[in-house]
Amino acid sequence: MPALLEVRNLTVEFPARTVNANGAAPRLLVAVRDLSFSLAPGEVLGLVGESGSGKSVTSLAIMRLLPSQAQVSGEILLSDGMSRDLLQLPDEQMRALRGSRMAMIFQEPMTALNPVMRVGEQIAEAVLAHQKCSKQEVWNLSVIALREVGISEPERRARDYPHQLSGGMRQRVMIAMAIVNRPQLLIADEPTTALDVTIQAQILELLASLRARFGLTMLFISHDLAVISQVADRVAVTYAGNLVELGSKAEIFQLPAHPYTCGLLHAIPTLRTDRSRPLQTIEGAVPPLHALPPGCPFEPRCESRIADCGAALPPLVQISPGHWARCPVINAVSP
Ligand SMILES: Nc1ncnc2c1ncn2[C@@H]1O[C@H](COP(=O)(O)OP(=O)(O)OP(=O)(O)O)[C@@H](O)[C@H]1O
Ligand code: SF4
Ligand SMILES: [Mg+2]
Repeated sequence: MPALLEVRNLTVEFPARTVNANGAAPRLLVAVRDLSFSLAPGEVLGLVGESGSGKSVTSLAIMRLLPSQAQVSGEILLSDGMSRDLLQLPDEQMRALRGSRMAMIFQEPMTALNPVMRVGEQIAEAVLAHQKCSKQEVWNLSVIALREVGISEPERRARDYPHQLSGGMRQRVMIAMAIVNRPQLLIADEPTTALDVTIQAQILELLASLRARFGLTMLFISHDLAVISQVADRVAVTYAGNLVELGSKAEIFQLPAHPYTCGLLHAIPTLRTDRSRPLQTIEGAVPPLHALPPGCPFEPRCESRIADCGAALPPLVQISPGHWARCPVINAVSP
């Protein structure tokens, strides 16, 4: 089946903030490097990685919402009947797609919702941006969307302001705004990170039920592999702007190849984790963009590194059909 979304060789660079003394143009810092992946219709791809690995930049590039100083190259093909490269679309056509064929939900609904507007009106605005309907029709659609995301008494709740709702309900409102125009592609950037564990589970359940009901294709972003394991069919692991491993959920969780993926998996606490011993973590932190090592970006933290690892960025290698990893010494690594 052809992909609904195909990202090819996406690279996003930002000019460094430091000014060159000699007046030369600022150095470009690579936030996302040569990233390729695809999403089949109805599929959920989990994009996982630590803070600063380029997850949000990738999602904003797909939605064409990056600030103007970002330099973006590659192709982002959306094929829903017709195929087009989103990076080449005129602004007007992109605005028509954003919020209708493709929608996004963010980590913190309070920053995305307008605090002085009733939530029903905000959903109505999302409808009116793409559909012509009467005031009553659009209000009804808002109420239906609130009901679809599991908000009880949606007629009454539609009149509430965001501050009158709990964090979980606000995230449900964001999801209602995202699905009200029946998008095919939903990008969820850390949609549960700001919520406590019980509410997080409810939102994940809601997204799963909406996916089944509307056949949503989803790019689900999280720094948390445990969350990804609950929603994704396939998983892309990113590190410092690079795709380091891509595979099915079973491959990533049962046969991880890249040392970084293995480290992330070891850092997930389970019920069987021995509480008397400290949880395994990956020592160190993701390098800042201005100080990326010349070779494998994970090299400074990698316990499996060999002398060659620091020389050049390793290529992505196919380990088995559909399972890729960016590490030439993976055979030496036990999962
Ligand atoms: N507008 C910008 N200008 C300059 N650098 C930016 C900009 N936006 C993001 N970056 C840089 O790009 C890199 C990737 O950022 P991004 O927000 O995509 O990370 P992330 O994986 O989403 O992290 P988190 O888990 O913290 O949300 C970071 O180093 C960040 O500082
Ligand atoms: S290339 Fe080397 S440093 Fe990078 S993950 Fe593989 S073993 Fe570790
Ligand atoms: Mg982010």
